[in-house]
Amino acid sequence: MSPSRRHDRLGVHSIGEFHMTVPSLADAERFYAAFGLRVGRDGSSLVLRTVAGEQVWGRLSEGPKKKFDRLSFHCFADDAERLHAHIEAQGFAPIAAPPGADDSGRWFRDPDGLAVQVRPGPKTTIDAAAHQSPSLPVDGTRCAPYRSQVRAALPQRLSHIALMTPSVPARMAFYVGALGLRLSDRSGDGVAFLHAPHGSDHHLIALAMGPGAALHHLSWDVPTVEDVGSGMSRLQAAGYTTGWGVGRHVLGSNYFYYAQDPWGSWCELSATMDYIPAAVDWQGLDHAPEDSFYLWGPPIDPIFFANSEA
Ligand SMILES: [Fe+2]
Repeated sequence: MSPSRRHDRLGVHSIGEFHMTVPSLADAERFYAAFGLRVGRDGSSLVLRTVAGEQVWGRLSEGPKKKFDRLSFHCFADDAERLHAHIEAQGFAPIAAPPGADDSGRWFRDPDGLAVQVRPGPKTTIDAAAHQSPSLPVDGTRCAPYRSQVRAALPQRLSHIALMTPSVPARMAFYVGALGLRLSDRSGDGVAFLHAPHGSDHHLIALAMGPGAALHHLSWDVPTVEDVGSGMSRLQAAGYTTGWGVGRHVLGSNYFYYAQDPWGSWCELSATMDYIPAAVDWQGLDHAPEDSFYLWGPPIDPIFFANSEA
């Protein structure tokens, strides 16, 4: 079996890119640069890449308010026709490409109104995780570097997108039933974590119940928990002092730090998340709320659960 494809599964394999409008591209440029992304321009839009490659993960346009309004997924080219037909058979009719958007593949509207594109494209999910440990002490030497010499690894790739929704089951009908993502873990109807069928992090998409449909957070992978901590310090030094972490999640197992973006949603630095290879038939379980959120970390502020697009 290919490490990156299951011929017995039909579904998208990756996130291509997202689009959102924000009230100030200048604020966006400052924030995402401090976060550690490569921020460029494409006409009147900002484009977000990482230091690790040319993949455009995100596109931002100026608009009256922040709104996460488009999300593109990639599939294998020889699956596209069958997958489009399957999505339609699940009751999701195709729509016209949103104005200004790429019109390849096919566009649909998810149950919360988000425009979702399914198009053939490169596999941006990794085929295996090569986890790294932070440096361990060796007897007789100093392990920690001088603070003045710390060079934190910057985000390498988009790991997952978490969406707030009034109904986790309704949105799962689209992302699992139609797009072919698979349940990794859930806690009742409060939260569901979904991985891609051809191998991905423990979650490519997370759905969390909340007061309305909105982007909750974008999560970016860094190699180790040291890079999460150093990234937190980098953001705080740049004036972005509202955040949550450093901590460790239970479901997904990743270390995290969430920085609040200028519009009230969040950008996560994530390290060493569980990885679900294509070959593994992961059994998604339902977990008690107290065993679903975080293992350790600072107390959480209610603003973390606010709807930033109300
Ligand atoms: Fe996350």
